[in-house]
This record gives sequence, C-alpha cells and structure tokens, in this order.
Amino acid sequence: MSTIRFDQVSLKFPGASRPAVDRCSCEIESGRLVVILGPSGCGKTTLLKMVNRLYEPTSGQILLDGEDIRRIKATALRQRIGYVIQQSGLFPHMTVAQNIAVVPKLLGWPRPQIQSRIDELLTLVELPPLEYRNRYPAQLSGGQQQRIGLARALAGDPKVMLMDEPFGAIDAITRTSLQDEILRLQRQLQKTILFVSHDVEEALRLADYILIMQRGQIVQYDTPFNVLTKPANEFVYNLMGADDMVRQLGLLRVETAMINTPEPALLNGGPTVDRGDSLRHALSVILKTGAPKLTVVDQGAPVGELTLEHIRDSASVAASA
Ligand SMILES: Nc1ncnc2c1ncn2[C@@H]1O[C@H](COP(=O)(O)OP(=O)(O)OP(=O)(O)O)[C@@H](O)[C@H]1O
Ligand SMILES: [Mg+2]
Repeated sequence: MSTIRFDQVSLKFPGASRPAVDRCSCEIESGRLVVILGPSGCGKTTLLKMVNRLYEPTSGQILLDGEDIRRIKATALRQRIGYVIQQSGLFPHMTVAQNIAVVPKLLGWPRPQIQSRIDELLTLVELPPLEYRNRYPAQLSGGQQQRIGLARALAGDPKVMLMDEPFGAIDAITRTSLQDEILRLQRQLQKTILFVSHDVEEALRLADYILIMQRGQIVQYDTPFNVLTKPANEFVYNLMGADDMVRQLGLLRVETAMINTPEPALLNGGPTVDRGDSLRHALSVILKTGAPKLTVVDQGAPVGELTLEHIRDSASVAASA
C-alpha cells in the first residue's frame, strides 16, 4: 500500500507573481503509474519535489498512506521514495556498485545483502553485473547511466518512485526500451510511480492515469483513453493532438478499449490480440481477417474481447470532441 494524496496543495516561490503549484488535489492510488504531463514551467517538477520534501508546500497537505508527510522525517521519507532525474544524478566518483548501494547502506543492510541486491538490480536493468559493477558513471553511455539511476532508485525497495523526465535526454530507440523496462518493472513490482514527462506519446504508452497540468493547476486526471477521447478542455485537446485519429489508435493499448469478460470461454480459434497491442494493430487484424470480434489475451490467457465498434467508439468520440 502506498497511496499519495494531494489535498489543496499550493506552492508560491518567494517573489513569484503566482503560485508554481496552485491548489492541486488528487489521489494517486497504490500501484498506479501516473504520468504528469504539461508544458514547460507548468509546475510538474515542483509538484514532484514536494512529495519527497525537497520543497514544502505553502499551503495544503500531502498524505502518504493517510499520514501527513510533514510528520515523517525528510531523510526517512527519502529512503522510502525512489527518485530518478533527467541526468541520472549518479555520483561520478563512485562506481556503479557504490552508487546503487547508497540507500541500502543508509538503511543499515548487512554487506552480503547489499552485494546481492546490487547484482539483482543490475540484472533487472539488463546490465550484466560482472561487466558493470566496477565501472564509473563516465564509462557508461547515457542510456546505461539512466538504467543505473533507475537501479539506484529501486535499491531500497521503495513503494513509491518519483521520476522526473528520466528519459528526456535519450535517443528514441533506447528510450523505448527503457519505457518497456518501466512497464515490466511496474507489472512485476507494483510500485506507485509518479512520472513527469512532456512527451504525449510517452505518457500514452506508460500511464495508467495521466495528470495534466496547466499553469500550476490540475486540469484533468484520468485514464489515457479518457484524456484522449474526452479532453476536459481545448488545452488538453490540443496538447494530446486529439484530432489525429490514426496516430491515436497507434498509441492506445487494446486494454483501454476492450470489454473485460470474466468467463474465459471465448477462445475458439478466432483471432487474438494481446492486451498490450495498439488499437491500430487490432483494427488491422479485424480488417485482414474479417472477424467481427477479437479475443484479447494476456500472456496467452483470454481476458476480454474487442469489436470494431469498441474501436470505432474510441475513435469517433475523439474525432467529434
Ligand atoms: N527554486 C525555484 N525558485 C523560484 N521559482 C521556481 C523554482 N523552481 C521552479 N520555479 C518556477 O516555478 C514554475 C514551475 O516550475 P517547474 O520546474 O515546476 O516546471 P516544470 O513543469 O517542471 O517545467 P519543465 O517541463 O521545464 O521542467 C516556473 O515558473 C519556474 O520558473
Ligand atoms: Mg521540470
């Protein structure tokens, strides 16, 4: 359990004409991956930094599992929360292993446990321990540094992860593979993740929920599907590029439009799509096979169904918005 609740949270920096974060209220449910999306300067980083008390709100409160975070010592709080930033923030004079060990050491873990944790995490982010343990950050590519940054943030097994444009400075291919990694981690480890981005495609790919900010305020907090198909206002509509239907279908996952069926009695030889496939792929399967209905599978097991109508509904709502 790690629910984060923002309750009328505002922060006005000294001398600023208006608050950087302005009366934000929302609840981030435990185990959810929420992408905070919005233009430069809208308050994303400021909102994030209040969660681990790098900044304190001027008013309002933030609750972690119902507890006001002001009642938790900042150092203790930061050991419970993983934090990944754009330039990886690795300590340049420490090896990869030493970087990853920072929080476990602070937590007083015994040495053998720390050593095996380092290897476990390096394996998790797909960097073979033998090869990478003793390197210095300068001896790694940008993408590898980000992976180590991620491993370091995961080291103390925090329930909450804050990620501030962690892949911003990385080429498109590496970025996609790191995004896959996050999705895999999320399914595997069930972290509550707050992930800042200003890349719409990244948000659609990763998010269970998208939180859209404009000038310090939350303008919409909803599923990717709803943000695309029922944008709260014109700003959201434009931000999401909601008028390009084909692109959208390529970005939305099947699971956002499918109907869950409790009875897995569907699988009778008809075409299947994976719940993680894009709606565009599903559409092409329907067009190619002429099947009226697709069975949606998750690791081979049927979990739902999808018809042309479900796809058309999602697309037409977007087009008429
Ligand atoms: N330490 C600070 N002191 C004063 N003003 C600040 C400080 N940090 C941020 N601001 C201001 O607060 C507002 C929100 O900044 P913030 O960094 O949260 O934006 P952001 O959404 O993360 O933008 P970006 O996408 O460019 O990272 C901006 O107007 C910024 O200038
Ligand atoms: Mg920022």
